Amino acid sequence: MAASLEDVPSMELMTELLRRMKCSSKPDKRVILVGPPGCGKGTQSPLIKDEFCLCHLATGDMLRAAVAAKTPLGIKAKEAMDKGELVSDDLVVGIIDEAMKKTSCQKGFILDGFPRTVVQAQKLDEMLAKQGTKIDKVLNFAIDDAILEERITGRWIHPSSGRSYHTKFAPPKTPGLDDVSHTRLLALACICQVTGEPLIQRKDDTAAVLKSRLEAFHVQTKPVIDYYTKKGIVANLHAEKPPKEVTVEVQKALS
Ligand code: AP5
Repeated sequence: MAASLEDVPSMELMTELLRRMKCSSKPDKRVILVGPPGCGKGTQSPLIKDEFCLCHLATGDMLRAAVAAKTPLGIKAKEAMDKGELVSDDLVVGIIDEAMKKTSCQKGFILDGFPRTVVQAQKLDEMLAKQGTKIDKVLNFAIDDAILEERITGRWIHPSSGRSYHTKFAPPKTPGLDDVSHTRLLALACICQVTGEPLIQRKDDTAAVLKSRLEAFHVQTKPVIDYYTKKGIVANLHAEKPPKEVTVEVQKALS
């Protein structure tokens, strides 16, 4: 352990130390982000993570990593994901139970894309009750289905960092180019503005698969919002607004 720390550059160690000092005064928070595909959960999560010092647990990202690595979990999950259906409750509850034990989750967590069924919500409550904790807030990214196709089909992702771009709403920036040129550049070259590496589109980010994903949301996930509404912890956001305005709503709901 000590040997590996010796290899970490001093600047990185100092930055991490300062982050931990800043985080020590923040209250613990356990937050769920819920909403249909493309509503902005993944866009807002890194901002919430930094501001409130929480870990970001996104079941979709974890499952995609398992699919790419061809682990037993990934092999089981792939077929459902490609079709835009939900994977089984047992698989996702298992990965969340494990992930919540990470040191980075000590101050709490953001659950992005979990729970997606009432069974998952009940199992989560049971897990937290065993630790003597509970969910503090559920952010409901409310948005009309009609807006989502353009967001989903225009999304491009940097696979190793998970950084997300959009041909129209969040094109990569290149010094010296205006926004229209950035968009053209992205369409032509599809490169990450930070690393210059190629961007990819998710296999399920097509108009056809989006239909199944939306159906799964309306049938299986909307009842989760009702479940938490009865507990009085849901904050409804206007997710159709521009990203910065949604961030302001998120901050109000969590402060
Ligand atoms: P998952 O990866 O969780 O996908 P999802 O819920 O469909 O959500 P997305 O990642 O598509 O959307 P997002 O809300 O994060 O949107 P983003 O911020 O990127 O799940 C994938 C699959 O895994 C599921 O279908 C299922 O098979 C399986 N799975 C996962 N969890 C599971 C569970 N718990 N149980 C069972 N199965 C599970 O935004 C989208 C685009 O819009 C971006 O390009 C962004 O730049 C742009 N954008 C964002 N906000 C705005 C804005 N305000 N205005 C304009 N553009 C915006």
